[in-house]
Amino acid sequence: MSQNPSLQVLANAHLPVTIAPSVSSPRNDADYSAAEYGHLAGLPAARTLQLPGPEQELSHAEAMTLALQAARQGIRGANPLVGAVITDAHGHLLHVGYHRGAGTPHAEADALAAARAAGTDLTGARMYVSLEPCNHTGRTGPCSHAVAEAGISELYYAYSDDTENAAGGAAYLRSQGVTVHAMEEFANASYQLNERWFIAAAERRPFITAKSASTLDGFIAAADGTSKWITGPAARIDGHLIRHRADAVMIGTRTTLMDDPTLDARDANGERFEKQPLRVVMGKTEITENYRVRGLNPPEGVEADPQNFLQVFTHDPRELLDELYARGVRHLMIEGGPGMVGLFAGEDFIDEMVWYRAPMIMGQGKSAVYRLLVDTLAQAPRLQLDDLGMFPAVRVLGNDTATHLVPAPRGTAQEPGERRTLPKLDACHAPEPRLD
Ligand SMILES: NC(=O)c1ccc[n+]([C@@H]2O[C@H](COP(=O)([O-])OP(=O)(O)OC[C@H]3O[C@@H](n4cnc5c(N)ncnc54)[C@H](OP(=O)(O)O)[C@@H]3O)[C@@H](O)[C@H]2O)c1
Repeated sequence: MSQNPSLQVLANAHLPVTIAPSVSSPRNDADYSAAEYGHLAGLPAARTLQLPGPEQELSHAEAMTLALQAARQGIRGANPLVGAVITDAHGHLLHVGYHRGAGTPHAEADALAAARAAGTDLTGARMYVSLEPCNHTGRTGPCSHAVAEAGISELYYAYSDDTENAAGGAAYLRSQGVTVHAMEEFANASYQLNERWFIAAAERRPFITAKSASTLDGFIAAADGTSKWITGPAARIDGHLIRHRADAVMIGTRTTLMDDPTLDARDANGERFEKQPLRVVMGKTEITENYRVRGLNPPEGVEADPQNFLQVFTHDPRELLDELYARGVRHLMIEGGPGMVGLFAGEDFIDEMVWYRAPMIMGQGKSAVYRLLVDTLAQAPRLQLDDLGMFPAVRVLGNDTATHLVPAPRGTAQEPGERRTLPKLDACHAPEPRLD
């Protein structure tokens, strides 16, 4: 049986299907599994993937549908969600894999690892993968080579990966004698799953996760400025896990000056993870050395790390993103304040949003979002629930809820839509909140 509770064989306990167990602890790097994620934060277990029984001969469409479902077991961030299914030549399911996030094996490698662990002979086997196998060495090796070496004879993929560096996997596999089929009827499903990741890659900027924590009526601080703590410990731990996955965490100068956060990523016990995100401040007011985000005066037992801090002296989001992209940042978390969330939402740069809400009402205070010019309902950026195995759309965290959202689709694989930007603040009718 699978050691990973997020993948469950429902039909038959004697199935030969195996799934690679997760490989390492998130304490050390970005390797996450659903089990670890849930355990670490004391969160409910992730949704399970239902696998067919051993007698079932999967059609090509059924196998690709399963690969797309497996992809949804992953987590959003620097890399796309991808799933892979291996069947024998008759369509009997052998192995399933999916990508668990940056730094972990790609879906194809995950499924191949399960095959190796089980000693499965893959000669003549088929692989179904929701995205064309990559052809480059990034944080992991080229999947196209691994698939060919494993003896897979037929490869089916849903959507071509034309992104920089990754393209060319199908061509390589053909050159190695593998029969390759593009299943165009699934191209849009695969595209929709990762639309925002494709957009970020095409715009040569990091994938952006924005986080907010508010009362039910949308305030992040009371009228007198008090804001600690609106949400409870479980929601805060969850926010730290997102920081840990991101390459960089960004706030505006005002949040820095008012809250003096460390921006480090800590586990459920309050201990710093080994892997820390780059701490970024956006704005023109110089953040002096005494602020904790600079990393010069850490608490006892923590090493100073001033090199892991960056201030970008700009008001232009594109300039900030260019700077971070050039430094290799591929996943940026925006922690606030509300001006930053509004600024980036108004430019259609937010790719995913996690919104924590506490069961509290205030009637007045600091709004969770401003610097966003919406005059009429039709202009308001629309989001939709994003339900993933590792990151379900709605979670209960102690007394709070976390809602996981992505922007409404811009377009389709055939007709990618345009950026939906809003007018700049200069014309905004909403006043900036008081500073004091
Ligand atoms: N509950 C939560 O989730 C949460 C999270 C974070 C913060 N907060 C709260 O949010 C409040 C602070 O947030 P905030 O939105 O007022 O400040 P902010 O977003 O942290 O910083 C605003 C500053 O960013 C700079 N800036 C950068 N780009 C800009 C642009 N395009 N236009 C205008 N200014 C730009 C400006 O400073 P310069 O003059 O220096 O350029 C501006 O004053 C605090 O009360 C904090 O406690 C809550």
